[in-house]
Amino acid sequence: MPYQDSLSALNDAGSLKERLVSIHQVVKGHFPFIARIAVTLYDSKTNILRAYEHSSGNADPLSNYQASLDAAPSLKRILEQKRPRVINNQLTFEGGQHEHTRRIARQGYAASYTLPMFNQGVFFGFIFFNASEPDVFTDGVLQQLDIVGHLISLMVIGEISNVRMLSAVVSTIAHITHQRDPETGSHLGRMSRYSHLIARGLAAKYQLDDDYIEHVLLFSPLHDIGKVGIPDSILLKPGDLDENEWAVMSTHVLKGREMIDRMVANFGLVGLQHVDLLRNIAEFHHEAMDGSGYPHGRKGEDIPLEARIVAVADVFDALTSRRPYKEAWSTDDAFAYLKRVAGEKLDRDCVQVLVDNREMVKRIQAQFAEDPLG
Ligand code: C2E
Ligand code: SIN
Ligand code: SIN
Ligand code: SIN
Ligand code: FE
Ligand code: FE
Repeated sequence: MPYQDSLSALNDAGSLKERLVSIHQVVKGHFPFIARIAVTLYDSKTNILRAYEHSSGNADPLSNYQASLDAAPSLKRILEQKRPRVINNQLTFEGGQHEHTRRIARQGYAASYTLPMFNQGVFFGFIFFNASEPDVFTDGVLQQLDIVGHLISLMVIGEISNVRMLSAVVSTIAHITHQRDPETGSHLGRMSRYSHLIARGLAAKYQLDDDYIEHVLLFSPLHDIGKVGIPDSILLKPGDLDENEWAVMSTHVLKGREMIDRMVANFGLVGLQHVDLLRNIAEFHHEAMDGSGYPHGRKGEDIPLEARIVAVADVFDALTSRRPYKEAWSTDDAFAYLKRVAGEKLDRDCVQVLVDNREMVKRIQAQFAEDPLG
């Protein structure tokens, strides 16, 4: 048989998770005792380590987990000594009083190899190789795992710089778009925080991971990007829109979707994780639960969750803000309206989270107060 590249799966477009799973398969071919490969990222601004990606099934012991690096002294020591950590018998490992070590031990991993990741000398996270048997990490095994570890590290660096670029593009475009939109920058600030608040409130029920929630915050300000294509005479009209004007206005959702597709293609971001969230937010944020929305008239759960979340945040902020065509409503009036249309137009769970968090809503309103000139 002609030789087959054992890592050919890496040639395909795919998420970081899929690529990590492929690498894990190949590693297992050599070292069957490697039960899990996981990546944790370090945020230097907050000193927080958070679970990022792993190759095991969905029931990972550490998903949604985050901790201060100071709360994980054994990991901190890895950095101070600038050397990876080999634990050939996890059961006797002294760090057992820490939550993350306990979770790992509970899962039954017997040994682990932990490699710190650096980008141009700057520490940005750890890779964990967890083994199902003790005493497997000999020097020969470790030397091969080091190569795998550095390959993963480069993949993670690539992924992160794409996310950074996309987020810079998103923020630039959002600001350009809103130069002529009556929706000000503070509208974007508020509605992205409301969206984030709702996503966090739904995390347990819908099993949303941290990455999803962060992307809702990042992408929600782009929901109306398609309004750049709407003429001023309609966008800035002080009164009601007539039928023709409304027909033009309602194209902003599909225009937005097309602009995002073009942006993703132009920036080569096709494989970027969660980029479909951005598309869904632009395309589906005016769908209604009962199917009376636009552009597709989708119903209920057929409307992606991120679009249902953003719809509630957008309507609430539109109601409580002044627009060329309407005055601002009070928070109470807006909450009463949301509750009235919950289940019919807007997602009931999303509305519930928002009205249950009045204090946070008030704090967001104060933090992003309307610019009197805006
Ligand atoms: P927008 O101003 O950001 O409003 C977003 C959504 O908030 C609206 O989506 C609607 O669901 C809700 N909303 C805003 N104001 C009111 C209100 O006074 N009463 C109620 N019940 N809901 C409200 P919709 O209707 O799909 O509109 C999409 C966009 O079309 C709006 O974005 C706005 O840019 C424009 N638009 C809508 N109605 C008018 C209008 O009467 N005159 C003008 N000039 N533009 C309008
Ligand atoms: C992890 O495996 O994700 C961290 C636990 C450890 O310190 O080994
Ligand atoms: C904006 O408010 O224009 C940018 C949104 C963001 O940076 O998340
Ligand atoms: C944001 O950071 O998401 C919004 C900032 C702004 O209001 O322009
Ligand atoms: Fe819209
Ligand atoms: Fe909006």
